[in-house]
Amino acid sequence: MSDSSAHPESGPDTVAATGQLTGILRRIADFGASVEGMFGEGDHPAFIQIDRLDGPVHAVIDGRKTTLFGTNSYLGLNFDPRCIAASEEALRKWGTGSTASRVASGNQNGHVVLERTIADFYGRPDAIVFSTGFMANLGTICGLASQGDLILYDSHSHASIIDACRASGATFKPFRHNDPADLDRLLTEATVPASRILVVMEGLYSVWGDVGAVKDLATVAKRHGALVLVDEAHGMGLYGEGGRGVTEAQGADHLVDVIVGTFSKSVGVIGGFCVTSHPALQPLRFLARAYLYTASLPPAVVASARTAIGIIKTDTALRAELWRKAERFCRSVQALGYQLCAEPGPVGSIRMRGKAQGLDMWRSLLARGIYVNLLIPPATPGGKVLLRFSVSAAHTDEDIDTFLGVLSDLTKVAQIA
Ligand SMILES: Cc1ncc(COP(=O)(O)O)c(C=O)c1O
Repeated sequence: MSDSSAHPESGPDTVAATGQLTGILRRIADFGASVEGMFGEGDHPAFIQIDRLDGPVHAVIDGRKTTLFGTNSYLGLNFDPRCIAASEEALRKWGTGSTASRVASGNQNGHVVLERTIADFYGRPDAIVFSTGFMANLGTICGLASQGDLILYDSHSHASIIDACRASGATFKPFRHNDPADLDRLLTEATVPASRILVVMEGLYSVWGDVGAVKDLATVAKRHGALVLVDEAHGMGLYGEGGRGVTEAQGADHLVDVIVGTFSKSVGVIGGFCVTSHPALQPLRFLARAYLYTASLPPAVVASARTAIGIIKTDTALRAELWRKAERFCRSVQALGYQLCAEPGPVGSIRMRGKAQGLDMWRSLLARGIYVNLLIPPATPGGKVLLRFSVSAAHTDEDIDTFLGVLSDLTKVAQIA
């Protein structure tokens, strides 16, 4: 970030002389300088601009044809002709935006039908649709827990879960990642009744790409009598016979009180949701400020989300295709000598030795038309530098072979595996 774009409102004098800044402006300017310094000269991982998209995973970046291995479009549904047609029709009939909250004039037929669709998909009577996955966690967790309650959350949880814990007013503590014994310890030591404890975890953790120990953790939580919430943001569409996520795949549905998810990954649009079977939780939408005080989803997004969920529910071949490609890719990466953070799956990370190697590798891949995500501390658990990839059903076998070929060439040149 350049000085002139950091704080336009701070005026030319202060911008020109950042050394004279104090207080909030000083802190933000120092932070900006440290972000800039983190990556040195060359392409900056946070500022890559996609100039054109030719489908879900093919792009033009800086004039170069690039295959995207860093999207969350696991099933390629953001370019599915049926989803696009549904969006186009809704756009013409309903206009570009809802222009109001669900509780004002933003509650359109499409939103209500989408809630029915997602509730039916999860086989639960109640669903609330939010405007993003982040807001689904914020609204649901803050709606459920408040002062005097305790939230126990997996230490690898997404920022939206942690921010929700902070905003809820409840006491919150992390348990060791995927560790039922540690959760058991915290539940045993808790000084509030178990009925006032909310246990939060994810189905699939997208930084390492490892599956949550949902069944084991939820079993412990239920033994104590706590409520269980699982975020299936990345698991939805990937795991389970019905595509509902890791909770379904592990046969843990009956142990989970609330499932939260997003439409921004396999569903291919934007938006979030929570589903539950508890009649007592029906008033949640009136407690969820991230639902009440924001505009509802645009109609075109609602229409394609509904269509995409229908496809996820019925098109098991698409899911099988994704897994075939993901497993082939991961096994081949391992065969080249690289270490993955988790079992092969559609999202995962290759361990790098440090920031210099990670940045070098990331830039070398990009220069050869392969886009992945570079993750560095503090955004990574365990302080590791990682190259995160995601495989999509929309990748061709040739795309995967090209990535593997480039990785192999880079390995030979730099001996970096
Ligand atoms: C586990 C988890 N929850 C919630 C979110 C937020 O979802 P969205 O990007 O749709 O707001 C993400 C996004 O990466 C996520 O990984």
